[in-house]
Amino acid sequence: MEMGLVPSLRSLFDTTQMRSDFVVSFNSELLNEELGDELSMCIYRIIQELLANATKHSQAREIKLKLQVLKRNVVLEYADDGIGVEGEMLEENFGSMGIYGMRQRVRSMNGGIRFYSRPEEGLKVWISIPSVFNTVSNLE
Ligand SMILES: Nc1ncnc2c1ncn2[C@@H]1O[C@H](COP(=O)(O)OP(=O)(O)O)[C@@H](O)[C@H]1O
Ligand SMILES: [Mg+2]
Repeated sequence: MEMGLVPSLRSLFDTTQMRSDFVVSFNSELLNEELGDELSMCIYRIIQELLANATKHSQAREIKLKLQVLKRNVVLEYADDGIGVEGEMLEENFGSMGIYGMRQRVRSMNGGIRFYSRPEEGLKVWISIPSVFNTVSNLE
């Protein structure tokens, strides 16, 4: 990732907002470590799919994203204020590759992912990935 994760994300938010009706508010104040390449790319791809889904499915006005390092985990929180989704749509199934792909990515980094939603109540996603071996400072 040439620009680094946060600048790359900011540029992704700019292009996404041009094509959608929502604003993205992004908080990375507590991202006090440089994440390694593999983890940065993993986070980037996940956010890319979350935003693609928000554009296609959510009808949201606002997307909130928070990225922080808590203890030894990189924690990503996503929330939209859109139409939400039935729980069963979010279950593991091969029919919807986007969410399936997200789960696989997180799993491949030994992380955890949770979805919370009800119709009309927007979607929330919580992701935690161990940063041990995955941040630059740990490689020094
Ligand atoms: N932010 C969201 N708001 C409402 N529904 C969503 C959202 N994200 C995903 N969904 C629902 O979950 C389904 C599965 O998403 P995904 O696996 O990415 O498949 P796809 O985007 O190809 O339809 C979507 O088809 C949509 O119905
Ligand atoms: Mg999708």
